[in-house]
Order: sequence, then structure tokens, then C-alpha cells
Amino acid sequence: MKVLILLGLVFLPMLAHGKVYERCELARILKQNGMDGYRGISLANWVCLAKWESNYNTRVTNYNSRDRSTDYGIFQINSRYWCNDGKTPRAVNACGISCRDLLTDNISKAITCAKRVVRDPSGIRAWVAWRNRCQGKNLSSYIQGCRL
Ligand SMILES: *[C@@H]1O[C@H](CO)[C@@H](O)[C@H](O)[C@H]1NC(C)=O
Ligand SMILES: *[C@@H]1O[C@H](CO)[C@@H](O)[C@H](O)[C@H]1NC(C)=O
Repeated sequence: MKVLILLGLVFLPMLAHGKVYERCELARILKQNGMDGYRGISLANWVCLAKWESNYNTRVTNYNSRDRSTDYGIFQINSRYWCNDGKTPRAVNACGISCRDLLTDNISKAITCAKRVVRDPSGIRAWVAWRNRCQGKNLSSYIQGCRL
């Protein structure tokens, strides 16, 4: 019981903020924003990517002690290359945005930046979670039952 309360105190604040998208809601917004087929990447790939990177939660951040960068938002976009958080060494900010803009309920900037990411040669393979969880798999369940 004590342990449960303690876990609650530790983890509830992390869950309290941010919009958690419903799977089909996210699929519809991605489609409306031209992600279905962008650079040949089908919609189900994007939904799968968001599932395993953030569990569809726009406010997730993860610090990488390896290079002192942080991953931000629904697509876990990295501050070393793509956005500016003012604290990442040798950061590039190729999307030309503040990393905070990747944590808002409105994911329009996250989408624009994700499109920029896949215009690089590594494409969607830039995301480790996509390689581990989505690449080469049958992804039809990620958009199954969605009114698109
Ligand atoms: C999200 O923001 C963009 C501009 O940044 C705007 O065009 C769009 O209407 C907004 N979407 C919603 C659902 O508010
Ligand atoms: C993918 O899975 C769905 C069911 O979830 C199935 O209907 C479909 O035939 C499968 N596609 C392939 C290429 O295996």
C-alpha cells in the first residue's frame, strides 16, 4: 500500500498533463495533415511510431544522458538535431522551432517537424522505436476501424 501510494506520487504528475490522443483521432489528424503516403510512408507507420514512442501522449519527454539531448512529444523528436531547448550541446535545430512547441495539444508543429526528419536520407528509420516495433510488421491494426 505504501509502495502504491509512493508510486502514485511519483508517476501521477507525469500523467497529469498533456493530451493523450485516441488512436483513430490521431490517425485522422495525421491524414488531414498529409502524412498518409508522405515520402512513401503509409499512415499506419506513423500511428505505430507514435504508439511506441509516446503512447500517443503529447507531453512525454525523455532525457538521453549519452549526448545530453532530450526527446519531445508525440513523435519523441530529438533536441540534438531538430529543435531548440536551450540546453543541448552542439544542437542543430533543423526544424527551426522551440522544443516546447512539440509538447502542445495541437500537434501541427510536431507533424511539420516529423516531415522534415523523414526528408533526411535515413527517413523514418531515424526512429529506433519504429525499427524495433513497426518495420516489416503488419500494421493494419493501427488504423483498423478508423473513419479516415
Ligand atoms: C493548430 O495550429 C495550426 C497553426 O499552428 C492551426 O492552423 C490549426 O488550426 C490548429 N489546429 C487546431 C485543431 O486548433
Ligand atoms: C494484416 O493483418 C490483417 C488482420 O489484422 C489481415 O486482414 C491482413 O490480410 C494482413 N495483411 C497481410 C499482408 O498479411
